[in-house]
Amino acid sequence: MREESPIRYDEDRECWDVFRYDDVQAVLQNAEEFSSERPLTAQGENETGGMALETMLNTDPPRHDELRKVVDDPFKPGAVKHLAPHIQDITNEYIDAVVDDGEMDIIADLATPLPVTVIAELIGVPADDREQFKQWSDTIVEGPGAATVSAETVREEQLQAQAEMATYFTDLIEQRQEDPRDDLISKVIHAEVEGATLSEGETLGFLALLLIAGNITTTNLITNAVRCFATLPDGIESVRDAASLELAIEEVLRYQSPIQAVSRIAATDTQLGDHDVKAGDRVVAWNGSANHDGDQFDDPDTFVPDRSPNQHLAFGSGIHFCLGAHLARLEARTALSTLFDRFETMQVSETELQPVGSSFLYGVQELPVQ
Ligand code: HEM
Repeated sequence: MREESPIRYDEDRECWDVFRYDDVQAVLQNAEEFSSERPLTAQGENETGGMALETMLNTDPPRHDELRKVVDDPFKPGAVKHLAPHIQDITNEYIDAVVDDGEMDIIADLATPLPVTVIAELIGVPADDREQFKQWSDTIVEGPGAATVSAETVREEQLQAQAEMATYFTDLIEQRQEDPRDDLISKVIHAEVEGATLSEGETLGFLALLLIAGNITTTNLITNAVRCFATLPDGIESVRDAASLELAIEEVLRYQSPIQAVSRIAATDTQLGDHDVKAGDRVVAWNGSANHDGDQFDDPDTFVPDRSPNQHLAFGSGIHFCLGAHLARLEARTALSTLFDRFETMQVSETELQPVGSSFLYGVQELPVQ
């Protein structure tokens, strides 16, 4: 696609597709012409699927910037660094629970529960409810999972999951209004944006976004890393030390980007390359494709664990650049280095792997290793 039709209009999906690095970056960095503000109706459109709540992800400046400021601090590198020992404890606990068998499913036993637990704790959600969150979050992002159900059923289930999550949060918000704690829920409830507290929709949107955005994405990053490392001639040996692992995780993000595309709406009549784009047209920026663009990366279709520099677009670009990037990297580093300590080698059987049920996400459903 990058060669033959780097920018094209897809009549069936009624949207523009943008595939090349420079074009994807240009779209993402131009929030004035390519807006994030839109009615989210199509399922799987981005990280939050069809989530119709107001969030920083689907607002433009100045509202976007004000909303992002409310929760920016806890996700900055310095603040995230303080979470390292606790993330290590949680990781040890999950691995200890299974490793005696000499075999584990990386997804079910570690890569899924780890990010859910970490973000649920930061938000202030009781850990006992995290299995329920996982289900809501997966349904909203991917649909119910069964390939046989109709698009209408998928949509209904997504809406139901959103409604259940909203009810759950409404109760929790009431509790924190009476009894504030040192958590993100209390921070969001008491935040003032342009002199006013957030609307109920914005508060709910905040919490749902934080909970959903980092789960399946980080799960897929950890899993994709295990798969990529298993293909290296020396297996995990070449990525064991901390510096090598850090570079290798960036390469996984580039090579198998957990989020493959993000979408925008043209705010005005504008140009994409030689094409005239009309105000209101949907534009899908394929960052997963951009990350394989040979004009930007040497040997783009080879996994090069020590690739440097590596200016990939896996976390997006511009004002919506992933809020949780530092947290996701820390979780992945912790999970992978701990796995390396416990497993001398890691064997993965690629033949039986099933992809996750969305073309906007890159990952598999189960990953047994031994
Ligand atoms: C935004 C990817 C983990 C929270 C984004 C965007 C991408 C992305 C591509 C840009 C969306 C756009 O431009 O429309 C990823 C990947 C992750 C990850 C690949 C894991 C490997 C996380 C985590 C959190 C998080 C752990 C937890 C808080 C967010 C939020 C936004 C966002 C709140 C919206 C930022 C804004 O609109 O200003 N992420 N993400 N993400 N991500 Fe992540």
